[in-house]
Amino acid sequence: MTKIKTIGILTSGGDAPGMNAAIRAVTRSAIYHGLRVMGIKRGYYGLVFNEIEEFSSKSVSNIVQHGGTILKTARCREFTTAEGRATAFENMRNAGIDALVVIGGDGTLTGARIFAEEFDIPIIGLPGTIDNDLGGTDRTIGYDTALNTIVEAVDKIRDTATSHERLFFVEVMGHMAGYLALNGAIASGAEAAIIPEKETEIDQLADLVNRGFRKSKSSAIVLVAENPETGGALGLAQRIKEEFPEYDARVTILGHLQRGGSPTAADRILASRMGAQAITALMEGQRNVMIGIKNGELVYTPFSKATTEKKPVSNADIELVKILSI
Ligand code: F6P
Repeated sequence: MTKIKTIGILTSGGDAPGMNAAIRAVTRSAIYHGLRVMGIKRGYYGLVFNEIEEFSSKSVSNIVQHGGTILKTARCREFTTAEGRATAFENMRNAGIDALVVIGGDGTLTGARIFAEEFDIPIIGLPGTIDNDLGGTDRTIGYDTALNTIVEAVDKIRDTATSHERLFFVEVMGHMAGYLALNGAIASGAEAAIIPEKETEIDQLADLVNRGFRKSKSSAIVLVAENPETGGALGLAQRIKEEFPEYDARVTILGHLQRGGSPTAADRILASRMGAQAITALMEGQRNVMIGIKNGELVYTPFSKATTEKKPVSNADIELVKILSI
């Protein structure tokens, strides 16, 4: 195994608050340990199209507090082809990069797994996604900030929902995972969360109506996990309007505002710890693993497991939303 002298760092896929804190931690830890750092722009696109520049510790000054990613991000079609990855490898070698640290969600880690297998490159992944949908970690970078953004928005919607005595369906992101909807519902006191991990949306809606969720209340808020197949919150509101016209239903889709904003302290700390650990992992000879956090401890999980393992939502939490909404 050749000694690692230069690492490359990139962010890819949907941005997540805390990615900058991770870039800063990776860069400064690497420099602290005598490694050179190359910043790769726009995710794998920058590897394929050679958008690579050397980073100093100053390159990452004054970014820990900002959402988004100073490296920019993209979903790169060229990198999904063998030719694209061969060009990426050539550019990487020409820039003197011996190992990579990639920050992103399941698409990013899947790309990393394939690239690492094809070219025998040491790669460490950091889980950067608001969705919290990766195996091998209790939390992903960006999830806590997105959750707080959701809670702030729902608190505001609550004011108008109460005043007008309306039923609101608030759609949140999640990429077919219900973490944001479920924990957003617990934290904001929503009457229900409709999530993909449970039976169909229609069954969950029927359950809600059957348990007379408005008996003791004149307004209600239901958090709905986005669902491109069923139409999510819009589809459910339409159904309610048709079947229960007595409910004055409204829809709010929170959308991309969930991905922005200054990261919470929890996300900054998580990203900083994981970023520093990525360099420790490379120096220990780890390769092709994602850094995760389990029960407060940093752990390694192979890319294949992190992207395929289903992380179940807690049944107790599902029950909790029900109990607390009586
Ligand atoms: O994976 C992060 C995420 O924000 C998902 O929650 C959402 O489904 C998707 O990205 C949106 O992607 P885009 O940036 O392409 O609109």
